[in-house]
Amino acid sequence: MEALEAILSRRSVSARLLGEPVPSDAELEEVLAAAVTAPDHGAIRPWRFAVIRGEGLQRLAALFGEALRRREPGASEAAIEEAAAKALRSPLVIAVWAEVREDHPKVPPVEQIISTGAAVQNMLIALHAKGYGAIQLTGPNAHDPYVKAAFGLQPKDEMVGFVFVGTPSEEQPAKRRPAAADFLRPWDGAAPREAAAD
Ligand SMILES: Cc1cc2nc3c(=O)[nH]c(=O)nc-3n(C[C@H](O)[C@H](O)[C@H](O)COP(=O)(O)O)c2cc1C
Repeated sequence: MEALEAILSRRSVSARLLGEPVPSDAELEEVLAAAVTAPDHGAIRPWRFAVIRGEGLQRLAALFGEALRRREPGASEAAIEEAAAKALRSPLVIAVWAEVREDHPKVPPVEQIISTGAAVQNMLIALHAKGYGAIQLTGPNAHDPYVKAAFGLQPKDEMVGFVFVGTPSEEQPAKRRPAAADFLRPWDGAAPREAAAD
């Protein structure tokens, strides 16, 4: 697939529609190679990835269930099971986070998190170009200190998503996208209002 065609035709696929086959190890290597070409101010390389499958998904499910139990001590067993089952929707999950350097003189944390978001986008495009489906999901788990700690994150670090990966069980219709023109704003180089008032 041409690069632009892949970008324009990419769409997320609901995690519950994602099944086998999943990318081979060689394909995953390429997907991660695409991820680490993300623009990266200061060459900080803030992105981190954990590829989770098989038994690992069972442990992720247990983690999601336990995280809910800790967040909401009154949660019912059914709710905990539901939370756990979220980890098992697709046969492969890639957790992606930013290991943030807070002390960098030139690159604030937000730029490191942006770089990690770009890494995810590259992964999504690469997966789509290879014929796989994927979706980036966060939900409460991504911001939960207990889940973050289980992946070795510190409070300053950001889990930018769990990327669910597989082969779509249904053909995915093309997605209507907004017209880019609607997001264009004129800018004439005027000084900020406050400064203009001086
Ligand atoms: C950082 C981030 C977190 C997201 N988390 C969720 C989520 O928890 N649940 C959800 O339904 N969609 C989530 N999304 C949105 C989906 O990944 C997806 O972008 C959206 O469904 C639109 O589909 P599209 O990628 O085909 O435009 C998230 C997107 C981003 C960028």
